[in-house]
This record gives sequence, structure tokens and C-alpha cells, in this order.
Amino acid sequence: MAWKHRHLVDVDVFSEEDLYTVLEEAVRMEEVMKRPLKKVPALRGKVVANMFFEPSTRTRTSFELAEKFLSADVINWSSSGSSTAKGESLEDTAKTIEAMGVDAVVVRNKQVGTPEYLIKKLNGACVMNAGDGARAHPTQALLDLYTAWRHFGSLRGRKMAIVGDILHSRVARSDIYAFSKVGVQVVVSGPRSLVPLHVFDLAEYEPDVRKAVKGADMVYALRIQRERQEEGLFPSIDEYHNQWGINEEVLSHASKGAVVMHPGPMNRGVEIDSFVADGDRCLVLDQVKSGVAVRMALLFLYLAGGGDR
Ligand code: CP
Repeated sequence: MAWKHRHLVDVDVFSEEDLYTVLEEAVRMEEVMKRPLKKVPALRGKVVANMFFEPSTRTRTSFELAEKFLSADVINWSSSGSSTAKGESLEDTAKTIEAMGVDAVVVRNKQVGTPEYLIKKLNGACVMNAGDGARAHPTQALLDLYTAWRHFGSLRGRKMAIVGDILHSRVARSDIYAFSKVGVQVVVSGPRSLVPLHVFDLAEYEPDVRKAVKGADMVYALRIQRERQEEGLFPSIDEYHNQWGINEEVLSHASKGAVVMHPGPMNRGVEIDSFVADGDRCLVLDQVKSGVAVRMALLFLYLAGGGDR
């Protein structure tokens, strides 16, 4: 099927068919990653700029790997060490990079709406959102969906409990859209002060984490985002850990084959116990691995339209 989307802002515009197109393409990309020579010429001659105005380990490196596996030329740009540090605006920076013949810009910024801003200001380069403020992290949602789909085979009718700081989490927002679109029942849990009203259209809220995870197939622990945390949204880190931290006892309320997921980086001993994070049921490293295949799939669909590999 020809890919009809030009930019990736969030997954809320994706139909169920679009989501499975990405997942199925990622399966093919995973095959490429298993080859001794992990490279296909699909994006030869294309240039991708990775622009990260916020810190990142997983998203930045997996985008770069994905681009290289597809034979694209890659520019890695970061705010420190560039003219942004001298006060150059986002618009001027992006236009400067586009003038060098860039086909796609992968952008992470604390400002919500940065992707749309760049789409308006640039002359047609594809814009991919690698996380904007607390709003959206579409590639994380897609890699989460892929990881769960590969693990369970089928997702419709399953239950997912997302636990933690929903308010500040771009991952939660994008995950709620993606998982509910494919028929997963999503329940969120955490301090009421960290659950925004908008989730209630697509997810239930259950403050008691044991009730929230009851019968869940996927327990998704969110990072407490100390960098976005206003004072006083919950009593203390210890209190948070005691009430909403994911440990073996909490997991005993989930379904027998339940898995644990986390977007990383993890605050061990806060939202997740080390015993759980290092246990057999934890898919965190599968999520990281899926990130490369899913980003390869997305780059291929957006930049080559799903044509020749
Ligand atoms: N999950 C995620 O976005 O991780 P990074 O911040 O390391 O990219």
C-alpha cells in the first residue's frame, strides 16, 4: 500500500490499517537487522538531519542506526556546540539545515508544536516528531505497539495498565491513542494530580494500582519526570514508590502471562523495582531493539513511500 502521510506528528491521525502497515514493515526491517551485513540501499541519496534540543539516548541513537541501515546520509545536530548556543532561532536553524539539501528532519524539543512549526517553515522536508514537550512521542508508541504485538501475536481484547505520571508523559498520550486504536483496553493509574482530563475519552482511571493492573496483559511503568515536575503534585518520591511503584507484589494482580514495559530511562526504586526491571517478564530491551526496526520502517514509508527496498 502507498503511504499517504507526509509528516509524523503523532499517531492520532493513523487508522488501524496504518498502524499495522508500520508494524508489518518493521517485521521486514527486523529481518534486515538479522543479516550479517545490516544494510539495504532503500534511502541511498537521501539526507536525514537528527535535531535534538532535549537529551536522548534511545531515540537519537536508534534513529541514527535506522538511517544508516537504510543507507541514508545522516547529519547529527545538537543544541550545544551549534549556533543555537549563540541565540539562533529554531526557524533559522532548520532553514539553514534544509538549505543543505536535507530530505527529512527528526526533531525533539521541549516546546509542544515544534513539528507543526517546522512543517510550516520548511520547504517540504519530511518532519518526524521524536518527542515534543509533554504532548507526543509517536515513534515510542509505535515501538511499544510493535513489541507487544510481537510478544502476544494479537492485541485486540487485551488489557494494558499505564502507571505513573500521565500528565507529563508524551509516551502515555501517544500510547493511549495507539493501543486503544487496535482494540486494547487501556487503564491508567497514578496520583490524581498527575492524570489529565483528556485521557478519559480513551482510557479509564483507577487510582488503586492493584485494581488497575488486575487482569492486565501489559503493565507499563512511566518514568517520574523530575525535569517537568512542579512542586507538590504528590507527597514525596517514597510515597509515590509505596503507592504506585511496580514490584512483584503488584504484578501478582496482573494476568499470568503479563509483561512489564517502560520507555526508559528507568528510575529504579521509584516507579519500578530492580527485581522487576531485570526479570524475565520485563520487555524493556525488546522495546529498545524494536525501536530500530520501527524507525527503519517509518523512514522507509515516509521517504521511499513503501517502494523498493
Ligand atoms: N524513551 C525515550 O524517548 O528515551 P530517550 O529519551 O533516551 O530517547
